[in-house]
Amino acid sequence: MSGRLRLGVNVDHVATIRNARGGDHPDPVRAAFAAAEAGADGITAHLREDRRHITDDDIHRLMEHLAIPLNLEMAATKEMLEIALRHRPHAACIVPEKREERTTEGGLDAVGQHNHLAPFVARLAEANIRVSLFVEPDPRQVEAAIRLKAPVVEFHTGRYAHVDNEAQAEELRRIAEAAALAVKNGIEPHAGHGLTFDNVAPIAAIPQLAELNIGHFLVGEAIFTGFEASVAKMRALMDEARG
Ligand code: PXP
Repeated sequence: MSGRLRLGVNVDHVATIRNARGGDHPDPVRAAFAAAEAGADGITAHLREDRRHITDDDIHRLMEHLAIPLNLEMAATKEMLEIALRHRPHAACIVPEKREERTTEGGLDAVGQHNHLAPFVARLAEANIRVSLFVEPDPRQVEAAIRLKAPVVEFHTGRYAHVDNEAQAEELRRIAEAAALAVKNGIEPHAGHGLTFDNVAPIAAIPQLAELNIGHFLVGEAIFTGFEASVAKMRALMDEARG
C-alpha cells in the first residue's frame, strides 16, 4: 500500500461530553473542523442505536458541512442501512453493537454472520459507499471479508492496546500478517481502537495499513492541549513512524 497513512478522527466522545449536559456544547461538528485543520484526512462518527453520543442531526450536519470524507460507523441493522443510504457518506464501517457495552468490544464475526452481512455490504456498495468491516486481525475474518467482497477491513486494535510485552508483540504480528493478507487479496486494511501517543508508532509502521481511526484518546488529550494540538501530534507521530 503506497501513500501517506491516513488519519480518521473519531468525534463520538465530543458528543459524549455534550450529551452529559444535554445542550449543544461541545459540538462534534466544530471538533471535526478543528481535526481537519490539524491534519485529519477524514472524520469517523458512530451513530449508535441508542444515540448515546452522535445523533442523527450530527450526521446530517457533518454531511452538509464537512469538506473531508465521513466514515459512518454503523451496526448492520435495517434502520442504519436506511440512514446510510439517505446520507451516502464516503464510507461506512460495519461494527458489532451491543446495547450494554461501553464501547465496541471485539470485532464483527464476518465468518458466522456472512448471510446477515452480505445484503448490507451489497446495498452500501451499490450506493457507492465504501464498505469496511471492523474485524479482529484473524485470517479467517479476512477470508470472510473477501467472500463478502468488502473493499476495506478495519482491524480492531483493542487487544493490542490493552496487553503488554510479549502479548503485545504477538498481537502486533497478527495485525501485520492480517494486513498483508488483506492487501494480497485486494482489500485495503485500516486499524483502530485504543490507540494513543504511546502505542501508535508500531501500528503506524505496518506498511500495508492505509488508515488509522482514533477517537477517545484524542478527545481526552484535548482537555490538556486543545483538540487541534492533540490531532496534530498524533498526525506527526504517525508520519514519523512511517518515515
Ligand atoms: N474504529 C472503530 C471501528 C471503532 O468502533 C472505534 C471506537 O468507537 C474506533 C476506531 C476508535 O477507537 P478509540 O475511540 O478507542 O480511539
